[in-house]
Amino acid sequence: MSVDRSVTFTGIKFENPFLLSSAPPTESESNITRAFEAGWGGVVTKTIGLHPVVNVYGAKAKFMRTTPEDANVSMKKRAGAALHSSWNWELISDKTLEWWAPRIRRIKEAFPNKVLIASIMAGSGNDKELKHWQELAETAQGEGADGLELNFSCPHMDRRDMGSNIGKDQGLCSVVTEAVKEVAKVPVWCKLTPATADIVVEAAACFRGGADAIVSSNTFPSIPLIDPETLEFEINVDGLVSSGGLGGPAILPLALAKMAQLTKAFPDKSFSGIGGISDFNQAASYFLLGCGTVQVCTAAMLDQAVGPNVIKRLLTGLDKFIEEHAKDGWKSVEDFRGIRRDRIVLQSEIRRPEAAEYHSGYETVEGYAAPQPEEVVRA
Ligand SMILES: Cc1cc2nc3c(=O)[nH]c(=O)nc-3n(C[C@H](O)[C@H](O)[C@H](O)COP(=O)(O)O)c2cc1C
Repeated sequence: MSVDRSVTFTGIKFENPFLLSSAPPTESESNITRAFEAGWGGVVTKTIGLHPVVNVYGAKAKFMRTTPEDANVSMKKRAGAALHSSWNWELISDKTLEWWAPRIRRIKEAFPNKVLIASIMAGSGNDKELKHWQELAETAQGEGADGLELNFSCPHMDRRDMGSNIGKDQGLCSVVTEAVKEVAKVPVWCKLTPATADIVVEAAACFRGGADAIVSSNTFPSIPLIDPETLEFEINVDGLVSSGGLGGPAILPLALAKMAQLTKAFPDKSFSGIGGISDFNQAASYFLLGCGTVQVCTAAMLDQAVGPNVIKRLLTGLDKFIEEHAKDGWKSVEDFRGIRRDRIVLQSEIRRPEAAEYHSGYETVEGYAAPQPEEVVRA
């Protein structure tokens, strides 16, 4: 039985469900070209805006690694350390819409079967800013973009009326989505921030505004560690730091929890999963929870900037996974998408041990002290 890697997501046909997310891997024409040649099914461009963008002095992103013997987490390079996370305070693209427009066209002409989603961002709260969203949307789709991703999620914009501050306000989520939908001829995805109490609220607002899909997660708000020797933050400018975004392996279970909330609340809607994916094992969790596509940033940044080995692993992993389940009749992602969504239930619905094997919670468990004998006896 042959594997069908293709998916149709929000009406767009993808040759495979793996995209580079909006970030440095998709910040230029040459990167996106290399990404498509490497096998990615689609890309979401680095977020495009209309306002001038000037990043902080020095590094915009760094990587934290951890060591097995002491679980130390640090940006310092150490032999034998494994990736823990990425940390960034990079703003959206510092290239203008005029710079992006001809490049979107050229990329689409060169790769008509690959999917290019334009990530866009403007302000909020007044009609002029809503018009900016519409101008960005109309230009990107006019140049051939297959879809639009509205960035409601950047955790560290220098303007308060942008990014995750939109994603934290259900009213703004609805209004901005609706404004873009008024002019959109292509599907509209909303990328939400994970930094709210209940992401289902903001997702519902986006759907009310007409969103075709929700994308989650962007990076989680975080700060770098303080070096105990120098007493300086590991990344800083003039000794100062501000909140930035955490990505990579560290956020995988957190991002999955957000996605589970979403797919359980809206089982019939479309979701694109992001957070901590570097090979198929992690992508599988997102598909099994109900995602139709997944996106990658950190792992691709660390693999020749666009992830040629990451996409190879994702594709071979997908093929192998489906082939192993050929006996179950699986041929494509659609055959297993969402089949583990219903396994997430309330704590009170989880079975308790039978009386004979239950020691009132005093069983020896990793991370807990051994039970006191008299307590076990009493139990
Ligand atoms: C350096 C850097 C820049 C990013 N820039 C953007 C951006 O412009 N727009 C956006 O929607 N997300 C941006 N992101 C977030 C990623 O697209 C992605 O949602 C996040 O990193 C989680 O995925 P990961 O665990 O695969 O890194 C950026 C992430 C990093 C590390």
